[in-house]
Amino acid sequence: MKNILVTGGAGFIGSHVVRRLVRQYPQYQIINLDALTYAGNLENLSDIQDATNYTFVKGNICDASHLDEIFSQYQIDAVVHLAAESHVDRSITDPLAFVQTNVIGTASLLNAAKKYWNGNYTDKRFYHVSTDEVYGSLGETGFFYENTAYDPRSPYSASKAGSDHLVRAFYHTYKMPVVISNCSNNYGPNHFPEKLIPLSINNILQKKPLPVYGKGENVRDWLYVLDHAHAIDVILHKGVTGETYNIGGHNEWKNIDLIRLLCKLMDEKLGQAPGTSEQLITFVTDRAGHDLRYAIDASKLKDELGWLPSVTFEQGLSQTIDWFLENKEWLDHVTSGDYQAYYEKQYANNH
Ligand code: NAD
Ligand code: TYD
Repeated sequence: MKNILVTGGAGFIGSHVVRRLVRQYPQYQIINLDALTYAGNLENLSDIQDATNYTFVKGNICDASHLDEIFSQYQIDAVVHLAAESHVDRSITDPLAFVQTNVIGTASLLNAAKKYWNGNYTDKRFYHVSTDEVYGSLGETGFFYENTAYDPRSPYSASKAGSDHLVRAFYHTYKMPVVISNCSNNYGPNHFPEKLIPLSINNILQKKPLPVYGKGENVRDWLYVLDHAHAIDVILHKGVTGETYNIGGHNEWKNIDLIRLLCKLMDEKLGQAPGTSEQLITFVTDRAGHDLRYAIDASKLKDELGWLPSVTFEQGLSQTIDWFLENKEWLDHVTSGDYQAYYEKQYANNH
């Protein structure tokens, strides 16, 4: 594999994947295709933007003729597909944007790869990065396995489920050499502050309320983003064609417990009296159709490909907070402009 097209490489997870591939594999050319939506930010990649094995292309994965040009101009051998609309709350207000990018965009990308590879699949790979949310919502016990039936319940997870089905359909119908991973909630540096952890870090810094949906009883399984990027690297190189791999941290937290831990760490790092940040916790109207619990069984990835997370949650969270404290300019840039309008609308009824 020499020329790798990464889609969505200017986003949160994509930027860590691009950085890892650019640094670990100088013999590869990494082409980053990103539409630079509100979630895409080239500042995430400022440290590698001049690397000789890196190229940025601004474009939309729904644009079929642009995709054709990119595949032939860069002679693409492998695709690592991360571009997506990724925020559940936005999918509740604007579901069609999710169908457009996640379903139509993925179908367009698959179709462009099929046309360009034209049945010659030697040393080719189409890697689709997906989410555990396609499996639906768990009760208080149990885990998601690779063969758990799909049961998506938000427009976001339904559109990602649709994209997963299309990828498998191209494998079965056209023998496209695909591999899929479904990962749990990520956190870490460069996380856009519409998601729970970076939103709460930002609000603690701004001394603004910390909006906890419902009673804060919902459970998520959190994985440090650099560990996800490592897993993607392992699966890209060693994953078996046609297979699916679950990725997760065995790290379940109730939202309210997570926020309390975050408050404690923030108080320590900001030199504030214990309990200061917790006073900002505000219970707000629950998310519509809020999935109760996600929990991944990642033993296939561990047993077959030898991947394990490298940091504990306390270490990862501490490093994440440090990154946000050291990158206030990044935070200022991404929270100016459109972000304020989004925030006012999303949390309007609660503050
Ligand atoms: P993100 O929202 O931070 O980034 C998405 C990127 O895709 C942005 O750079 C954006 O500009 C780009 N993009 C959006 N629409 C596009 C289009 N039509 N054409 C080209 N580029 C477009 O997302 P993320 O959190 O980094 O997630 C990346 C992928 O990983 C997604 O496919 C998501 O479903 C999946 N995933 C995310 C998580 C998580 O916790 N964030 C967990 C599991 C899986
Ligand atoms: P989020 O970071 O949006 O990820 P996802 O919905 O993909 O799991 O939310 C994580 C959890 O935190 C989820 O249960 C919803 C909850 N949440 C809040 O309580 N308040 C908030 O302001 C946000 C954004 C999320």
